[in-house]
Amino acid sequence: MADAAIRTRGLTRRYGDLLAVDRLDLEVRPGEIFGLLGPNGAGKTTTILMLLGLSEPTAGRAEVLGMDPTRRPLEIKRRVGYLPDDVGFYDGLTGRQNLRYTARLNRLEPKAAERRIGELLELVGLAGAADRPVEGYSRGMRQRLGLADTLVKDPEVAILDEPTASIDPTGVREVLALVRSLARERGVTVLLSSHLLHQVQQICDRVAIFVDGRIVAQGPMAELAERLASETLTMEVGLEAEPEVAEAALAALPGVHGVRRDERDERLWLVTGDSELRTALAGRLAERGLGVWHLRRAGDELDEIYARYFERGSRRGRGAGDGRAA
Ligand SMILES: Nc1ncnc2c1ncn2[C@@H]1O[C@H](COP(=O)(O)OP(=O)(O)O)[C@@H](O)[C@H]1O
Ligand SMILES: [Mg+2]
Repeated sequence: MADAAIRTRGLTRRYGDLLAVDRLDLEVRPGEIFGLLGPNGAGKTTTILMLLGLSEPTAGRAEVLGMDPTRRPLEIKRRVGYLPDDVGFYDGLTGRQNLRYTARLNRLEPKAAERRIGELLELVGLAGAADRPVEGYSRGMRQRLGLADTLVKDPEVAILDEPTASIDPTGVREVLALVRSLARERGVTVLLSSHLLHQVQQICDRVAIFVDGRIVAQGPMAELAERLASETLTMEVGLEAEPEVAEAALAALPGVHGVRRDERDERLWLVTGDSELRTALAGRLAERGLGVWHLRRAGDELDEIYARYFERGSRRGRGAGDGRAA
């Protein structure tokens, strides 16, 4: 157990009838960047609050740095940095003053704190804006100040809830680069949550795809992509035929699970199926005298992961009862 920075076993949280987090087994290794990924309402924030000892599990347990967060909330608070999804600052105070405030709350020795604050402001690229009131900061700047704020106490673990949400693409890149350098250069263990798989996947060593309170897949991103690729693929097909003929011909091919019109390009068909499909498309259609003018694997692996896992998993609110046999 001690070799995991964060571990949960059967971690569960209920809100009345709603099972917000359902028997979660999670393991985050020291020094890694772990992504807890899933659509809104998946239970990411609820999980994070339980890891921090800010919310009590209904069942199961969590261990962070070998401690039970519900029993040792203060020790957790001292050693674990937390960036909430709605990080707030005193707008009238400068960035530096806000960090000083956090340092005081954490009872850091003022001189050492001052030095550390200077370093952190440098690290997050806010040295130039440090002495301006936060009310003039952009969202990206606020988020970077949030990261600095999380790091003031020099935590061993940083838990970041939606660190890239609602900032512009440049801001996203900056924040992600920063998170990566924290893990790589400072050995901080990072757990981040996001509903934007595309944004964060590139910096995560491992991810858990989380839907309706349950993990539907867990592992290195590349492995998840591979697993999916062997399972299914979607091809974009352009056929020289009348729509009815084309649709029927595609649907009749071996290995096909579904045929639909490409909304982005009406002339194309999106054909989903198993690995047999690719050869069938190349060979059989020509045999039948149907000219294929376009044939391409649709989307990238990540698009597929996103669509497959997120769509497949999301049943909450559709009256699916307890049909949770994922
Ligand atoms: N305090 C609460 N009381 C009741 N329901 C809640 C509460 N907090 C979260 N929920 C519900 O639990 C589910 C998971 O929410 P949350 O953990 O915030 O998801 P995420 O962070 O993945 O968007 C949602 O359906 C949400 O409405
Ligand atoms: Mg959330």
